[in-house]
Amino acid sequence: MAKMEVKTSLLDNMIGVGDMVLLEPLSEVSFINNLKKRFDHSEIYTYIGSVVVSVNPYRPLPIYSPEKVEEYRNRNFYELSPHIFALSDEAYRSLRDQDKDQCILITGESGAGKTEASKLVMSYVAAVCGKGAEVNQVKEQLLQSNPVLEAFGNAKTVRNDNSSRFGKYMDIEFDFKGDPLGGVISNYLLEKSRVVKQPRGERNFHIFYQILSGASEDLLNKLKLERDFSRYNYLSLDSARVNGVDDAVNFRTVRNAMQIVGFMDHETQSILEVVAAVLKLGNIEFKPESRVNGLDESKIKDKNELKEICELTGIDQSVLERAFSFRTVEAKQEKVSTTLNVAQAYYARDALAKNLYSRLFSWLVTRINESIKAQTKVRKKVMGVLDIYGFEIFEDNSFEQFIINYCNEKLQQIFIELTLKEEQEEYIREDIEWTHIEYFNNAIICDLIENNQTGILAMLDEECLRPGTVTDDTFLEKLNQVCATHQHFESRMSKCSRFLNDTSLPHSCFRIQHYAGKVMYQVEGFVDKNNDLLYRDLSQAMWKANHSLIKALFPEGNPAKINLKRPPTAGSQFKASVATLMKNLQTKNPNYIRCIKPNDKKAAHIFNEALVCHQVRYLGLLENVRVRRAGYAFRQPYELCLERYKMLCKQTWPHWRGPARAGVEVLFNELEVPEEEYSFGRSKIFIRNPRTLFKLEDLRKQRLEDLATLIQKIYRGWKCRTHFLLMKRSQIVIASWCRRYAQQKKYQRIKSSAIVVQSYIRGWKARKLLRELKHQKRCKEAATTIAAYWHGTQARRELKRLKEEARRKHAVAVIWAYWLGLKVRREYRKFFRANAGRKIYEFTLQKIMQKYFLEMKNKLPSLSPIDKNWPARPYLFLDSTHKELKRIFHLWRCKKYRDQFTDQQKLIYEEKLEASELFKDKKALYPASVGQPFHGTYLEISKNPKYKKLKDAVEEKIIIAEVVNKINRANGKCASRIFLLTKNNVLLADQKSGHIKSEVPLGDVTKVSMSSQNDGFFAVHLKEGSGAAGKGDFLFSSDHLIEMATQLYRTTLSQTKQKLNIEISDEFLVQFKQDKVCVKFIQSNQKNGNIPTCKRKNNRLLEVAVP
Ligand SMILES: Nc1ncnc2c1ncn2[C@@H]1O[C@H](COP(=O)(O)OP(=O)(O)OP(=O)(O)O)[C@@H](O)[C@H]1O
Ligand SMILES: [Mg+2]
Repeated sequence: MAKMEVKTSLLDNMIGVGDMVLLEPLSEVSFINNLKKRFDHSEIYTYIGSVVVSVNPYRPLPIYSPEKVEEYRNRNFYELSPHIFALSDEAYRSLRDQDKDQCILITGESGAGKTEASKLVMSYVAAVCGKGAEVNQVKEQLLQSNPVLEAFGNAKTVRNDNSSRFGKYMDIEFDFKGDPLGGVISNYLLEKSRVVKQPRGERNFHIFYQILSGASEDLLNKLKLERDFSRYNYLSLDSARVNGVDDAVNFRTVRNAMQIVGFMDHETQSILEVVAAVLKLGNIEFKPESRVNGLDESKIKDKNELKEICELTGIDQSVLERAFSFRTVEAKQEKVSTTLNVAQAYYARDALAKNLYSRLFSWLVTRINESIKAQTKVRKKVMGVLDIYGFEIFEDNSFEQFIINYCNEKLQQIFIELTLKEEQEEYIREDIEWTHIEYFNNAIICDLIENNQTGILAMLDEECLRPGTVTDDTFLEKLNQVCATHQHFESRMSKCSRFLNDTSLPHSCFRIQHYAGKVMYQVEGFVDKNNDLLYRDLSQAMWKANHSLIKALFPEGNPAKINLKRPPTAGSQFKASVATLMKNLQTKNPNYIRCIKPNDKKAAHIFNEALVCHQVRYLGLLENVRVRRAGYAFRQPYELCLERYKMLCKQTWPHWRGPARAGVEVLFNELEVPEEEYSFGRSKIFIRNPRTLFKLEDLRKQRLEDLATLIQKIYRGWKCRTHFLLMKRSQIVIASWCRRYAQQKKYQRIKSSAIVVQSYIRGWKARKLLRELKHQKRCKEAATTIAAYWHGTQARRELKRLKEEARRKHAVAVIWAYWLGLKVRREYRKFFRANAGRKIYEFTLQKIMQKYFLEMKNKLPSLSPIDKNWPARPYLFLDSTHKELKRIFHLWRCKKYRDQFTDQQKLIYEEKLEASELFKDKKALYPASVGQPFHGTYLEISKNPKYKKLKDAVEEKIIIAEVVNKINRANGKCASRIFLLTKNNVLLADQKSGHIKSEVPLGDVTKVSMSSQNDGFFAVHLKEGSGAAGKGDFLFSSDHLIEMATQLYRTTLSQTKQKLNIEISDEFLVQFKQDKVCVKFIQSNQKNGNIPTCKRKNNRLLEVAVP
């Protein structure tokens, strides 16, 4: 198992020395060796005091894991081995706990690992600062801004496959708790010349290759691009693919990052369109065309590309074409248009591509800032991370390198200033005497470049603004004059002829001795690049684009906002922004990361000592160590120092009660450390020589061993004693538990025996008591029984006596009666005859009958003939009498009832009686008719003037006048008719007019037929051959069928003395003209409710549906 390593100081298990300040002896060789030794052991970080020196390992190291983050979290700077995390932690904690704004300055030449370091710092801070959904989103956006900016702003160079081609300063903003709120990114001068031309072995910006490799076919079509790199003039071919870089995968990462940062889909699309347009611009080619007046003119060779660009960007093709051929110069309301020759056209094209791209880049930064800006207005603490392009020396160095190196000079300057100032301040703060240390101050180089009057940038500006012909050569001439005497300026043609014979210095170049080495700059292009001119025709053409992003990129193209003032030159812009940056950095607490590149091959495990030595030299690292050591190599707060070394002195070990400073004094006296080796500050002890510190460390190590033995001894003794005491205690505990258990058992036994004995005694007592109680109870019961028996005997005796007495009395009475009877019989014997018995019997019977009738008189029921009540029979022998009496009584009361009737009523009842005889139990309609009196004349013919004629026609008395439905013989439909029955005739008349339609003498009516059901249909059969029978028998329906049929019957009987045949059947025949038709009654559920309907089915059948 791996031994667990608990570090309490960077001095523990050190490879070489972790802090160069402790390097002994200090020399360039030992410095480099120490770096190398550590590098070989994968220790890429080394401190110089609080500065972190980082050597690029060019391979992934397992030292950035989340576990490492946890290890470094909240630990003191010198507690663990040197790490970029320690610096990040220190900066973050000072920011959070001491409210100090921080900046992290990462310097080093191209490829030294600055960008990687800045990302590590950001990721560490993101890992340790607050958590929560909102905070995480902010962090994620801040982190994801890196891949986006790298895709657009980084490129492969000979020095670095992912070289930052812009300067970046990012302020991360935190709230008082240390939770991130947002950020602001500032970008510095993108190297835009790369868009149109790349030095050999280098690439254009990553994004171009990423689109072509990673975009889907569909997207490529939309962008009008082809996947083939070789199709594009702006992409150098010799290093289109970079080892270990998958552009397609990176494209997806970038798009994902853009989404996280908050770019909308349409924005991303617009950005890609601009990138595509830039790429395609490179393919526009021009050919010369001479005009008559001798002026050169150019023409676009193949307009296809131009057309596609215009389609992509929504620019009018003719506008753009014109902008590539003419140049309009405006001066005081005057416009002069000149044609462009081929070279000028190419210049215009490239200027447009560069401007388009660099403006897009600045827009991207602004857009990202919009997304990541803090949403609240609370006071913010700021941590700035500066990752700017590193110092560059190429074969051909141009304006860009000049600017980049100037920036690095400024950073070195601020490093020198702040490091020394900090150091100096600390000594003053701690009240320590301090002697000045010599170091190279590059202020003089900064002055050479930026001096407002004689600086190179000022010269360049002056040249650019000067009227007359201005070329790069006139600029160099000017430099040769003004800067000739400057120590760090070298030029072949300078006024002082120091370099007249220096063949390494071409005529068109000047050389500057930068702090990091000599760099020779090609003067060609300086003026143009500084002017950064874009013909107004082009910017106006861009502004006219029907593409919101491109339009926004060229605000000056708006004719309404024409500004004839020259825009500031690139150099002066850069100088101003660097000055602002420096000012900003000076307000913050600096933390340095000095990146070193171990080899030029971008290879792991190679440590090129010469290369490193060069960097160490120009970075002034040795001076840094010396400055740090000149005063004192090591310093530590008293508390920490005492804590670390207190075991070296008896007075301070194990505890020191007094103030820490006094403790350290006692300690150092006791150890006899020479007085010149240390100094007491206000809060810290300063140790001059690392040797002293190491001596202390050795002593400590020695003492730790002794202490370890001591601790071991004490621990072992303590362990044994504790073990013994534990055993002893355990033994007592066990014994006590055993005893307790035994006693408990014994007690349980005694207790249960006592309970048994107790229960026996209680049982015995209870039984005894029970016996006694039972005895008492039995005694009581016995007494009661005896008493009961006694009382019973007494009672029976008394009863016997009383019965005896009663029998005697009865006997006396009987005997007395017999005696009296005997006496009476003896006295009246002479009067009794043989029938005396019968008489008594009759008398008795008479009495009973008398009583029966009297009672019956009182109990008689009511006189209503329908009263069914009759009193119960009192004597069985009177049964027949009783029944007869009931019958007589009923007949009598019926008679009584009948006697009340008038003659008219009698007639009515007669008719009803007749109806009953005819229809009762035969026709279902009959019961409903019983309650209806027979009215006869339902139609008041005499009173209605309408029927006057009818009335007149009928002389006889009308028995029935009623409206009936006559059924049409042919179709079964109904028609209303007045039905009149007189003494001799049946008449049918029209209901409306009263006109008589048929007259049938009663003698001609042979039969009336009807159904047994609830309907009112009836047929009147006529004698065959009679006058009325021409059309056949009649079929009627009436509401008063029973009455009509009864009266027809009665009238016929009284007139013809013959009984009219009334047939009741559900199926009968009628004679219609010649046909015999069957009338059939069927039961049916009808649609039209309860009204029966009649239907002629065929010429043999007429069906009546009865509900
Ligand atoms: N800590 C590290 N661990 C592993 N590889 C590293 C580390 N730092 C740098 N590298 C490697 O070195 C390469 C160059 O690093 P980086 O891009 O940070 O350089 P730079 O200093 O920013 O250069 P430039 O000035 O050109 O932008 C990285 O792409 C990476 O491969
Ligand atoms: Mg970089």
